[in-house]
Amino acid sequence: NENLVVLGIETSCDDTAAAVVNSNGEILSQVISSQAELLARYGGVAPKMAEEAHALVIDQVVQEALDKANLTGKDLTAVAVTIGPGLSLCLRIGVQKARSVASSHNLPLVGVHHMEAHTLVARLVERELQFPFMALLVSGGHNLLILARDLGDYIQLGTTIDDAIGEAYDKTAKWLGLDLRRSGGPAVEELAQEGDAKSVKFKVPMKQHKDCNFSYAGLKTQVRLAIEAKRINAGISLASASDEERQARADIAASFQRVAVLHLEEKCERAIKWGLNIEPSINHLVVSGGVASNKYVRARLDEVVKRKGLKLVCPPPSLCTDNGVMVAWTGLEHFRLGRFDPPPPANEPEDAV
Ligand code: KG4
Ligand code: ZN
Repeated sequence: NENLVVLGIETSCDDTAAAVVNSNGEILSQVISSQAELLARYGGVAPKMAEEAHALVIDQVVQEALDKANLTGKDLTAVAVTIGPGLSLCLRIGVQKARSVASSHNLPLVGVHHMEAHTLVARLVERELQFPFMALLVSGGHNLLILARDLGDYIQLGTTIDDAIGEAYDKTAKWLGLDLRRSGGPAVEELAQEGDAKSVKFKVPMKQHKDCNFSYAGLKTQVRLAIEAKRINAGISLASASDEERQARADIAASFQRVAVLHLEEKCERAIKWGLNIEPSINHLVVSGGVASNKYVRARLDEVVKRKGLKLVCPPPSLCTDNGVMVAWTGLEHFRLGRFDPPPPANEPEDAV
């Protein structure tokens, strides 16, 4: 019986993450260093700054992941690292670190696709989850509907033609003057609970398109116009806003969320129909990526999935947002099938990556 132990490293965006998992699906350690403070100060990710922030903490994050798992490099079976998609400056920091760990302990390397990792972590969470299954991936940069037929065999049924839903959440939070020290999504979700979701009439995107694609740019514009019409001043924090203004902001947050998620529901429903035509044995819809940590999103999609006679698999929030566990696990799945690179040569020059 195999017992594989894989270190995963993730630096594609603004979090520096590392984790160790084994082939029983046990998470031996998980470490994340977030750039939330930087993000709040500059109102978004600036690649050069993010790269420096990754470079500053990467050694410590990886060391901590090994220490917490009570392991050293020589106990590992392989090293997995996100190789894309993402900010190339940031990805490099993770890849360089992975290569140096792998080369110093003579370990194989597995390059991991970030969105595949968001998808496959569901198989660590739900050990019964077999291929083929459907997946909805919702994050800051991606909005995908996928039919996962087998490991490495994916059919994309839909994507966004402009922005992803996470981007719409983030802009809505910014324009509503919400606290951005954590990402915008959770702030909008929280404020939406105080609002009337039917008070502002936003149009559901792409009603007339009979496909599985998404569009959030138009909804973003609708939200911006509604905020301007209500004369909401994002310079005034929510805490200092009058009761009346707080209510106006909450109403916009709730109305935005309702329509943003309705769009997901409609396209998911169609994608499940398409998916079942191709693979009638599908039993599950996986929902993952940062936005999948939203409780309203989870509840609404659970309804869709039930209507279609399927089961929803949604990882816990800590595994939905960017993390090292999903990378380690995806690396492990590929490694098991012999899909990996040999250990990199020792003393390789830094710019060889
Ligand atoms: O997957 P992720 O951590 O990073 C990317 O690969 O993009 O997703 C980040 C996105 C951000 O847009 C963030 O605002 C959103 O996920 N997000 C949420 C929630 N938590 C994170 N959106 C809505 N509700 C949430 N609770
Ligand atoms: Zn992500």
